[in-house]
Amino acid sequence: MPNQQRPGRITVPAIRAMKRREKIVCLTAYTAPVAALLDPHVDVLLVGDSVGMVVHGLPTPTAVTLEMMILHGQAVVRGSSRALVVVDLPFGSFEASPEQAFASSVRVMQETGCHAVKIEAGEALAPTIAFLVQRGVPVMGHVGLRPQAVHVDGGFKAKGRTAGERTRALAEARAADEAGCFAIVVEGVAADLADEITRTVAAPTIGIGASSVCDGQVLVSDDMLGLFERTPKFVRRYADIRSAIGGAAAQYAADVRAGTFPGETEVYRFKPEG
Ligand code: KIV
Repeated sequence: MPNQQRPGRITVPAIRAMKRREKIVCLTAYTAPVAALLDPHVDVLLVGDSVGMVVHGLPTPTAVTLEMMILHGQAVVRGSSRALVVVDLPFGSFEASPEQAFASSVRVMQETGCHAVKIEAGEALAPTIAFLVQRGVPVMGHVGLRPQAVHVDGGFKAKGRTAGERTRALAEARAADEAGCFAIVVEGVAADLADEITRTVAAPTIGIGASSVCDGQVLVSDDMLGLFERTPKFVRRYADIRSAIGGAAAQYAADVRAGTFPGETEVYRFKPEG
């Protein structure tokens, strides 16, 4: 049944069952009004730690805190009624131990009402993913270009161009799959590697900068709406909200300075009683 006709929230098993049958549509959201606008059109709303860069003006995602993710997660759950809501576990909130990851996941799920968490994970984190899944936390994995590893990698760099990178990305995806991820984000990898990963793992792959071979796609909504100033190569812009906001602000400023705003219809008038 097409997703538009399913009553209630899309579930974790429903997303998993979409592999090879139906493309999974995912966008990021950080606020209630934007979540409400995107919700009828997507299967998954991802409260990504990209919120740090696109909303808070941070230079990298590594400064994002659990408290920030919880605040934005609450807004997105409130603003949506249909999509599965997945919240990113931010840098520093899950790497120390499976117990730390479990405590962070429980906080995120209980305080936001979201349905799953996402973990950027190399092979080393596979035991942590298994620990979470066995205890009732649905986990979306994230392999290839991992933004939280920006300082290790020396920038946001596409993966899979060398034999070593290919082997590592494939091993990461297999480990995340075997550990029990219900879906895996594959970011910034060469198209043939995305294809190999998608054919190898049982979980659906959700690509970003990883070609159309993946089982679904995700974009940072601010990128595809043309709200964020830089547009990465893999983004298609579906709107130019930046120009719309700039134009509206310029017109408002001109109207205020000219004394034409507020106008006759935009003011309250005293109406005497009786
Ligand atoms: O933080 C984020 O928005 C993400 C997407 C880029 C997948 O992880």
